[in-house]
Amino acid sequence: MELFLIKVKHLIRCLRKNYNKKFPSSPLCLNLGCGNDYKKGWVNIDADLYKNIKKLDLKCDLSRGIPFEDNSVDYIFNEHFLEHLSAKEGLEFLRECRRVLKPGGVLRISMPDLENAVKMYFDSNWREKTPASMYGFEVQTRAERINYSFRLWGHKWLYDREELERRLKEAGFQNIKFCRLRESEHAILRNLETRRESTLIAEAGE
Ligand SMILES: C[S@@+](CC[C@H](N)C(=O)[O-])C[C@H]1O[C@@H](n2cnc3c(N)ncnc32)[C@H](O)[C@@H]1O
Repeated sequence: MELFLIKVKHLIRCLRKNYNKKFPSSPLCLNLGCGNDYKKGWVNIDADLYKNIKKLDLKCDLSRGIPFEDNSVDYIFNEHFLEHLSAKEGLEFLRECRRVLKPGGVLRISMPDLENAVKMYFDSNWREKTPASMYGFEVQTRAERINYSFRLWGHKWLYDREELERRLKEAGFQNIKFCRLRESEHAILRNLETRRESTLIAEAGE
């Protein structure tokens, strides 16, 4: 068993080295859980769970780690991805982001905000604000709507500011800032979001 684990760890190390060699671009930027949002100049990675992705640089299950060497990546972006991992996988994923980022590197996370789902539950205009196009069918009740926020589209764990900040800190990030859609003090991280529903956006560094 021990020998088997040593072999697996060695294999993972070799894979990481190969990926670093394969993408020597400077700066090295990862678009994780990219779906069909292929970003030119970025390394676009996804497990392609729904077998609908037209273009990818790497296919891999990111809940098992990020296949790059320690301190080798400049920027990481992910949109509507983290909520597709369980809480445990999500924390491990954030730790992996921290591991691969260079000192001074930045992680940008964009996702739906749990707070909005809760506000919507208490909003007297929730029906008008829930068009059928949002879910592909008409939602009948507030309970149905809030349940879908948590469970539909493969969602496993929703975040609000407090929860995201706590998990980022647990993963070792110290410098955490909440941002507005498509805005950033880092030029390379501006105008990346493709979805208006990305209302919870944070940038984190060491
Ligand atoms: C809602 S889509 C978001 C895609 C894209 N970022 C966007 O905003 O349009 C979530 C993506 O996460 C990917 N995904 C889910 N779990 C994953 C995992 N464990 N490893 C890698 N990709 C995963 C899915 O294949 C899917 O493409």
